[in-house]
Amino acid sequence: IMSSRTFFVGGNWKMNGDKKSLGDLITTLNTASLNDETEVVCGAPTVYLDFARSNLDARIGVAAQNCYKVAKGAFTGEISPVMIKDCGVEWVILGHSERRHVFGESDELIGQKVAHALESGLGVIACIGEKLEEREAGTTEEVVYAQTQAIADNVKDWSKVVLAYEPVWAIGTGKTASPEQAQEVHEKLREWMKANVSEAVADSVRIIYGGSVTGANCKELGSQNDVDGFLVGGASLKPEFVDIINARA
Ligand code: 13P
Repeated sequence: IMSSRTFFVGGNWKMNGDKKSLGDLITTLNTASLNDETEVVCGAPTVYLDFARSNLDARIGVAAQNCYKVAKGAFTGEISPVMIKDCGVEWVILGHSERRHVFGESDELIGQKVAHALESGLGVIACIGEKLEEREAGTTEEVVYAQTQAIADNVKDWSKVVLAYEPVWAIGTGKTASPEQAQEVHEKLREWMKANVSEAVADSVRIIYGGSVTGANCKELGSQNDVDGFLVGGASLKPEFVDIINARA
């Protein structure tokens, strides 16, 4: 049974591409036949946000990959939600594992960013996920619940939030979580939402999976009851992204 939650497929381009290659990708997406029941968002590097928003078809959303926790000020190198919105961009990815583990962002900072982005009117793709050693130590649930709590403490309107479960060991490794592994964590997260937020939010919030999603594995992953879409890295830079968008077609 398919849920009433609109399937959501995000592309995270990370720090890749240039105007030529991203322009070619944008042309591919604009001219592709995309399932119009799926919500699609592309996460562009900061310097290409305006370029992506200006060139992508209006049916495709754009996301920033990060932002700071206040609107303006002496924070060299940072960007704010109000600037993102000024480029016509509607979404921001926050708490990505690379922000957490390469750049040392804490749960507390991510929570503050989530609060400010939502207050500023952006939609938030909020990322969580355990490391390999945490999974092997049996602490996956503990880790993702704590990360989710730090996000949930900062959310008033869940309709603007998509939760992305991205196990760190599956990101960029080609080691995709099995459909059963993904479903198990997504189901537990939805139970956590029911117990700690509300039943209505648990039923309506999109929980998407990220980590080595490809055209070849997306259909089986996307057919799991609690997998409401994907956050795609490497494959979002290829024409294959169209097949992932159409996973439920
Ligand atoms: P890959 O799809 O390249 O594994 O990256 C996943 C990811 O980090 C998306 O945010």
